[in-house]
Amino acid sequence: MEIKSIGIVGAGQMGNGIAHVCALAGYDVIMSDVSQEALDNAVALIDRNLVRQVSREKISQADKDTAMGRISTTLKLSDIGPSDLIIEAATERETVKQAIFEDLLPHLKPNTILTSNTSSISITRLASRTDRPEKFMGFHFMNPVPVMQLVELIRGIATDEPTFKACKSVVDRLGKTAATAEDFPAFIVNRILMPMINEAVYTLYEGVGNVTSIDMAMKLGTNHPMGPLELADFIGLDTCLAIMNVLHDGLADTKYRPCPLLTKYVEAGWLGRKTQRGFYDYR
Ligand code: CAA
Repeated sequence: MEIKSIGIVGAGQMGNGIAHVCALAGYDVIMSDVSQEALDNAVALIDRNLVRQVSREKISQADKDTAMGRISTTLKLSDIGPSDLIIEAATERETVKQAIFEDLLPHLKPNTILTSNTSSISITRLASRTDRPEKFMGFHFMNPVPVMQLVELIRGIATDEPTFKACKSVVDRLGKTAATAEDFPAFIVNRILMPMINEAVYTLYEGVGNVTSIDMAMKLGTNHPMGPLELADFIGLDTCLAIMNVLHDGLADTKYRPCPLLTKYVEAGWLGRKTQRGFYDYR
């Protein structure tokens, strides 16, 4: 099945990046959110990020204008339904994602493929709550979406081969590389990345180093572009905690215990860059 139109649920950090790359690759994109302000902010951000790509001569002005013209927005989830492929990129809470899929079901075409950009939640479980588990997959982008090369594709237990092939062809057309992962908690990237970030928070909690020394050590010592605490602020500490909880609950192993300091920051509402305060102060 050839994908021509892509519906994106959620205009946040991930949703607007996904809309950006899909429109640039030639897909008709419709993006939904629950507030007009979120949609307006997302479109403005996509415009700014495309301008940056034009100024660095990565794309032409005509590419940018065409991509912007391919993006429409809506407050009604029902408008997303007729898309060939839907990518849900709402907040990382299972109840929220389930409610979105339930609301979408009556508006879908029979062959619409449903996917979730979840970074850790079971694809099989999300799929089982829909009318089409065989046409359901994990489609996990990395942040910032326009820059990062990888997309994880995760098959649920019932996902069929045509669905996998259709999603893989989208990844290819985006010019990105797919890593295929089995449906186990947090898949590949976050199964490895989040325990590292959590361990960096323990390193801070136990006073082994301070924020700047931990990040500097990992940047200069392992050539990571960002230190683990800076990266945690970039991803969002609530997302990091949610993923650690999925690992801890799903694999029932104390090695995935979220650091109490990470929990405390989230309880304080210090979620990283998006709230201007996390391990660093952005105010
Ligand atoms: N849109 C378009 N282009 C962007 C962009 C955006 N949103 N953000 C950055 N860029 C481009 C810049 O224009 C720049 O392009 P050139 O190479 O042509 O100059 C390039 O990206 C680098 O950006 P900057 O010079 O502004 O900044 P930098 O060199 O410090 O790099 C970074 C920024 C790319 C974010 C880099 O720090 C990095 O790679 N950090 C690690 C990111 C990472 O690990 N992401 C994965 C997180 S895990 C995840 O996403 C999974 C999950 O489920 C939680």
